[in-house]
Amino acid sequence: MTDSTMPTITRTAWEVRLAKHLRAELGLDNFDLVQVQTPEPGAGEVLVRTDYLGLSVAYLEMMRADSHLPIPPWQVGQRIGGGAVGTVVRSNSADLAVGDLVRTMTGWCEYSAGPADQYPKLDPELFPSPVHYLSQGPTAYYGMAEIAKVGADDVVFVSGAAGGVGSLAGQIARCRGAAKVIGSAGSQEKIDYLVNKLGFDAAFNYHDRPVLDRLRELAPEGITVYFDNVGGEQFEAAVVAAAPGARFALCGALATQIGDHENRFPEPDLTAATAKRIEVLPFSTYHTPEQVAAWTEHFSTWLGEDRFVFPHTIVEGGVTAAPQALVSLLQGNYRGNVSVKVAD
Ligand SMILES: NC(=O)c1ccc[n+]([C@@H]2O[C@H](COP(=O)([O-])OP(=O)(O)OC[C@H]3O[C@@H](n4cnc5c(N)ncnc54)[C@H](OP(=O)(O)O)[C@@H]3O)[C@@H](O)[C@H]2O)c1
Repeated sequence: MTDSTMPTITRTAWEVRLAKHLRAELGLDNFDLVQVQTPEPGAGEVLVRTDYLGLSVAYLEMMRADSHLPIPPWQVGQRIGGGAVGTVVRSNSADLAVGDLVRTMTGWCEYSAGPADQYPKLDPELFPSPVHYLSQGPTAYYGMAEIAKVGADDVVFVSGAAGGVGSLAGQIARCRGAAKVIGSAGSQEKIDYLVNKLGFDAAFNYHDRPVLDRLRELAPEGITVYFDNVGGEQFEAAVVAAAPGARFALCGALATQIGDHENRFPEPDLTAATAKRIEVLPFSTYHTPEQVAAWTEHFSTWLGEDRFVFPHTIVEGGVTAAPQALVSLLQGNYRGNVSVKVAD
């Protein structure tokens, strides 16, 4: 890289920290915007400019003092964490060169520095854009392929189908040969998108009519796979509309984990599910190298064959726009996977 193409490195940089733990509704007052000195990489270290941050509803749990996750939640004053992709802008390591595209787990900051082995190198040619590396695909693929084991003849229902995980989960079912894929989402625009752009066979707005009525109309033969991002009424309706022996992959609880609910992850009533011999399969993914590799291989292949769309929204405005972007995500203002453009 010549001097004229070297990225400019600012002396100070913005980062976003947790101002107070989340208790009820997420607001901008949960975040602090802080200006810091751009770090200097030491021996064997690199300086990485964050290019895009990935957002997920799952971050809410990390912001709560009483998190249900088996890992420590973020502390007040700590930088908001999470996955990102970035570019090496200074290198004191033989393992990474200036200009390399890398994955970072350093969270909501403009620059980070650390040992080169903490920044896995990414192939910039594999996908049309770096944001493809921030997809919720490892979760969607693991849930559909490894937990629900979706295949030919399955009649699949995905709730939260226009969101980050759901929009990929439905397409994975289609690519694995499911007989029918049905999605639920919260607006007509999202319903149209699922059917016209993502290849769902049918979709419905869960606000309009009882979910059970819609499932009975759209899947009179019975659902054999349910990928549940929502819980609550949609889970209960899916049980009634399921075929005996159906597999339910329980991924999330959007109906209760967003907002002010006393019980964010209520235990589902399994009486009716048991009578139907439904396999109720809650799962957690931790994006192990194997899970990421399985997804990456299928994602790049399906995109290359023009069988798959990457539904995503890129929010402009830099790292300081990330708090409002997460609030907007929870309000249902975006479609697909959401990332914030920090630099490029
Ligand atoms: N099991 C795991 O290992 C794992 C890993 C990652 C994520 N997750 C979970 O997967 C789920 C999806 O995550 P994501 O990041 O892809 O989120 P997401 O689906 O993109 O979430 C945003 C969407 O949630 C929907 N929503 C908001 N309130 C709702 C309600 N009361 N009922 C139904 N939908 C509601 C809105 O869509 P509408 O306009 O359609 O309402 C909004 O666009 C979350 O529950 C997350 O915690 C699980």
